[in-house]
Amino acid sequence: MKYTLPKYLFAALLALALGCSTAKQNTTVFTKERQLPIDRRVDSVLALMTLEEKVGQMNQYNGFWDVTGPAPQGGDAALKYEHLKKGWVGSMLNVKGVKDVRALQKIAVEETRLHIPVIFGFDVIHGYKTISPIPLAEAASWDMEIIERSAQIAAAEAAASGLNWTFAPMVDVSRDARWGRVMEGAGEDPYLNSRIAVARVKGFQGNLGEFNVAACVKHFAGYSFAEAGRDYNTVDISNNTLHNIVLPPFKAASDAGALTFMNSFNELEGIPATGNAYLQRDILKRDWGFKGFVVSDWGSMGEMVTHGYTKDLKEAAEKAANAGSDMDMESHGYVEHLAALVREGKVSEDKINDAARRILRVKFELGLFDDPYKYCNETREQQTIGKKEFQDGVLDVAKKSIVLLKNERNLLPLKKQGQKITVIGALANDKTSPLGSWRIAAEDGTAVSVLEGLNQYKGNTITYAKGADVAVGKTLFGSETKINTTDKSDFAEAVAAAKNADVVVMVLGEHGLQTGEGRSRAKLDLPGVQQELLQAVYKANPNIVLVLQNGRPLTIPWAAENIPAIVEGWHLGTQSGNAIAQVLYGDYNPSGKLPMSFPRSIGQVPLYYNHKSTGRPGGDAPTESVFWSHYGDEANSALYPFGHGLSYSKFEYSNLKLSRSSFGKNGNITVSVDVRNNSTVDGKEVVQLYLHDLFASVTRPIKELKAFELAEIKAGQTKTITFTINEKVIEFYSANNKWEAEAGDFKVFVGGSSVTKLEAPFSYTN
Ligand code: NOJ
Repeated sequence: MKYTLPKYLFAALLALALGCSTAKQNTTVFTKERQLPIDRRVDSVLALMTLEEKVGQMNQYNGFWDVTGPAPQGGDAALKYEHLKKGWVGSMLNVKGVKDVRALQKIAVEETRLHIPVIFGFDVIHGYKTISPIPLAEAASWDMEIIERSAQIAAAEAAASGLNWTFAPMVDVSRDARWGRVMEGAGEDPYLNSRIAVARVKGFQGNLGEFNVAACVKHFAGYSFAEAGRDYNTVDISNNTLHNIVLPPFKAASDAGALTFMNSFNELEGIPATGNAYLQRDILKRDWGFKGFVVSDWGSMGEMVTHGYTKDLKEAAEKAANAGSDMDMESHGYVEHLAALVREGKVSEDKINDAARRILRVKFELGLFDDPYKYCNETREQQTIGKKEFQDGVLDVAKKSIVLLKNERNLLPLKKQGQKITVIGALANDKTSPLGSWRIAAEDGTAVSVLEGLNQYKGNTITYAKGADVAVGKTLFGSETKINTTDKSDFAEAVAAAKNADVVVMVLGEHGLQTGEGRSRAKLDLPGVQQELLQAVYKANPNIVLVLQNGRPLTIPWAAENIPAIVEGWHLGTQSGNAIAQVLYGDYNPSGKLPMSFPRSIGQVPLYYNHKSTGRPGGDAPTESVFWSHYGDEANSALYPFGHGLSYSKFEYSNLKLSRSSFGKNGNITVSVDVRNNSTVDGKEVVQLYLHDLFASVTRPIKELKAFELAEIKAGQTKTITFTINEKVIEFYSANNKWEAEAGDFKVFVGGSSVTKLEAPFSYTN
């Protein structure tokens, strides 16, 4: 039964909804002033909609037929096309470019009954065409300003290309390097993840102008805890871990005004996240007051059947809708079943209204009701993409993301004159791999290779030998299918070249498409024969600078022991080679710090610095007894710990002081430390503050990052860095199932990594 409005009312309401703003909206996300008018406008649209049209808003389809060509005939594409014309498609993903977006938007706003614009989503994860470092690399910069800038650049290019919604940031706290998607997040620490989540949401969304897009915080929640690091695998974590480790970055992003969330493929407490009311309805919408909408992950509603949670797609749609999953990405569950489920009384119309209202609201916030073609400007598209200032911007981010892991005998920085340098490794000459995973709009071959970067310095003689290919399996996007794990025929040439060189720069690691979604690894060493190549070259010439390119922590104990200089060069995006060359030559003094621990061996994984004490803790030293928490054949500690990273400057910490030894309710303690740059080069240091809460109603980690400062310190100078500890800083999710500060004793640690030894005690009395 369809409800038809009297014509005059229809016209009046539509005018209110679509036309009540005369000036162009410059919306600020959910500010009180904007909330009221937008809510009224949303309600006025909702009042016009049939049940099917509301459900239609909750339906998202993947891009389909040649949208600027003739209408598709037959099959899935024809059905989607028909749905679009009926107003049954609220969003589309993977349609990009002004021409195509405009063509589809035209159908939505000119051919449907209510003219409601479509929101266009895309995975703009670390850049659109101009590619920034992968998010894990960016996190290594610990620099919120440049991380925000990087998101702004990505948003500007995507928005110029017709898009208005990115499926980023991913804020999953990641402890398991086997999981390929660690490249897409900010590593193992909830606090660093939270800070970065806020910076990225701000960068993408800005003031929701024409160069901004809506952010989508994902994957809600627990996805990164897939057992054994195997993507999509079962997740089984405690409520304590959920609240203290997993949720904080999501909460921070919601508080920062993120417009949308994405749920996840995994189950939690035996309930798939898409059908999980505790997560979506209770925590996100009720407790946090989130006003935006939740989109499912791709097909995750349908996968509830495979999980064994629902008997069919219809029941999956029922469970998802009732749990608060507002939009269905490509399961077709809502469009096929939701209206019937409402009629059968299994889903209330209120639920549908709530979901549709949330989706419409985001469209209003984006200004799509005021101008559905806001993002469809060909001139802007041409003038924006690949701009020089964007190239400079991503170069800046790339330099700051590099981590100097080791530098003995001052092998780095390289001398600029009179050196014979041999560059070895397939990755050194690769212009695609540095773009990394999740950069689907960028063209292959558009990154600056390390070889090209080094060749810009003319004072030295540079030669190149491949040595070996990187072993690459079949990949999602098909652009790299070489599978070469055994061929050593190019070793001899590399070894001969190395013999003749003053310094060898070896670029080894993972291909950019060896990490990311669906690319879990059961081994974390250098793939293929690269380790053998490294050892063969080392025999010929040990003066090796090893540049790693990878999307996750690797196990490189032999290199850590034998190779004098190691640079973590990640997948740094379009300007990768220039950034690496500038760091190798000392034109940029490295300042990055690891956002994830590097294990010594795969058996240690999941490995993270902020672990619990256990009843039988222990260090790395062998003891007579075996009855403590350790391995018989490996140390407990990381090879390179969280927060580690060197500089060409030498920083020394001293004089850790606390303003008082205890504080109470509404009080605080000021912590100060002196950091001296005991070298002849200016540098930057990430000064890190960690706490240990010695006892509590639930066990607490042995160390937790609580604050950091990126300090620029001139050669020979000392800077005093101060931090404040108050109740907020010591709060955690307690045995009372709420965030609170408990009275007790603490230790504070300050230093240049998570293994810092400088510490002082204090207490809190409430
Ligand atoms: C699946 C991924 O898990 C998600 O992160 C992504 O945004 C969607 N596919 C859309 O491509």
